[in-house]
Amino acid sequence: MSKPLRIGVLASGGGTNLQAIIDRCRDGSLAAEIAVVIANNPGAGALERAGKAGIKILCINHRDFTRREDFDSALVKALRESEVDLVVLAGFMRIITQTFIDAFPDRVINIHPALLPAFPGLHVQQQALDYGARFSGCTVHIVDGGVDTGPIIIQAVVPILPEDTVDTLAARILEQEHKTYPRAIQLFAEKRVRIAGRQVIIEPACPPELTALVNPSLNG
Ligand code: GRF
Repeated sequence: MSKPLRIGVLASGGGTNLQAIIDRCRDGSLAAEIAVVIANNPGAGALERAGKAGIKILCINHRDFTRREDFDSALVKALRESEVDLVVLAGFMRIITQTFIDAFPDRVINIHPALLPAFPGLHVQQQALDYGARFSGCTVHIVDGGVDTGPIIIQAVVPILPEDTVDTLAARILEQEHKTYPRAIQLFAEKRVRIAGRQVIIEPACPPELTALVNPSLNG
């Protein structure tokens, strides 16, 4: 049997995506090992979740660095020391520099709670509601030099309902995040991900769920 993929997870907040990844590693549906969880914020719930799961944790506080590059170099050093194959940003609220990206080419992934390229950046559930979009969702993508611009690995779509608030929409999207992020990592674990320009090619190919989603419904 081949060695499990070693991942390093970077988080800033509550860490529900981290928890989903921990749970899938535990139940065996994700053939990965979380080598380290790093937070930039000492109060991050993600550190507590990782600690409870017996995973190595580190806090590298960006406030201790005057230059972004130095903060990123410290992250890279820690990730290398933990010998990670893939870097997983899970609610990591810092923009990473080219120094970081160059250290792990095509091996840094992020999850974004909208259907990219629509609504990059922050407050994206509010953006989708304000725009009057009928659907939103989540996107797992490779991290490149831009903000939420890298090649797309997997997306899930959810409807936006008339009574939605930011919180109800965020919760509906988060449910899909918890399924799609472990799945994307598993595709790396199975060595099925190849990047060709903007395209992420999954080999062997994996067909989509072939259902058209229409909102509002064609009937009724
Ligand atoms: C998620 O919505 C993720 O898409 C975004 O930040 C949030 C993190 O949530 N990048 P959690 O910390 O994983 O609960």
